[in-house]
Amino acid sequence: MRFLDEDEKRELRSHLKEYLVEGGLATVEQISRGQNFSCPEIAPIVKWAGGKRQLLPTLKPMLPGCFNKYFEPFFGGGALFCSMAPNKAVINDLNGQLITMYKQIRDNPSAILGELHQIQFRYNALETMDEKDNLYYELREEYNRRISKRSEDVAALLIFLNKAGFNGLYRVNSMGRYNVPPAHRKQINAFDEKNVMAFSKILKNSEIMCGDFEDACKDAKEGDFVFFDSPYYNTFDTYQAKGFSEEDHVRLRDLFRALTKRKIWCMLTNNDCEQIKELYKGFNIRSIPVKRVISCNGKNRTGKEVIITNY
Ligand SMILES: C[S@@+](CC[C@H](N)C(=O)[O-])C[C@H]1O[C@@H](n2cnc3c(N)ncnc32)[C@H](O)[C@@H]1O
Repeated sequence: MRFLDEDEKRELRSHLKEYLVEGGLATVEQISRGQNFSCPEIAPIVKWAGGKRQLLPTLKPMLPGCFNKYFEPFFGGGALFCSMAPNKAVINDLNGQLITMYKQIRDNPSAILGELHQIQFRYNALETMDEKDNLYYELREEYNRRISKRSEDVAALLIFLNKAGFNGLYRVNSMGRYNVPPAHRKQINAFDEKNVMAFSKILKNSEIMCGDFEDACKDAKEGDFVFFDSPYYNTFDTYQAKGFSEEDHVRLRDLFRALTKRKIWCMLTNNDCEQIKELYKGFNIRSIPVKRVISCNGKNRTGKEVIITNY
């Protein structure tokens, strides 16, 4: 894979507004991404707390110009991965249910779409919000019943609950039971069929792992690129029962240093706070303003995050 340099991009823009590719027109941006044109940009399958969609316009121009394999060890909804559709990737998350869902999307997208159609049709056809909420609780119970039996067949339920539940949270109680409340939406549009099929296609080029971030980076080689989007410093970690501790942040910084020595491109996002700036002293740290949604009333406030690179 090769990215166009700035002069090539300028020249291309002056000649072309659009470029004909298999299956339609590619934008100049897709062309300059240097990606396989037959795979258009896709959207995350789940809405994930801490998802990076709003930061994409800032993150993408900061990617290394050229790299081999793409690694995303804290995958969540994988917003950056989706926007790049890399040809070779390793994706990982500690959340086993999420990773099982991705494996099912890779292997059996049609079956998931069939089940999703049925669930969504049932929900949207109900008249009152009470009926919709009751169905949500029934499906949540069914999801918990299936995961307690270690059933792998939960992808459609997880996607639906994620879209019909509160704010893209994945939260479990001390017994490991999913307990996110309903978002009380009148209509749910949980999926886009073409998008699920395109996602399935790029997952076929990816190694999908479930474990700790350090293991996920073991096979990274010189010239590869790793994007780290861990739970943020000093924030309540809604993702895992154990949380992401101070020691985990130090372990992550040590890995960032080790990968730098191995000549692997690294990019990392986190809160803009003194502790993080101290941990990553010596690397390139860029501070950016971001809008954050305050969970209960949906209002925005502005915060600051950092994007750290070793290049
Ligand atoms: C901020 S989210 C990633 C969001 C993602 N970049 C996106 O665009 O949706 C952080 C993710 O890290 C995962 N995680 C937490 N601790 C982890 C660990 N020790 N190793 C790997 N993944 C971990 C969580 O399950 C969660 O999905």
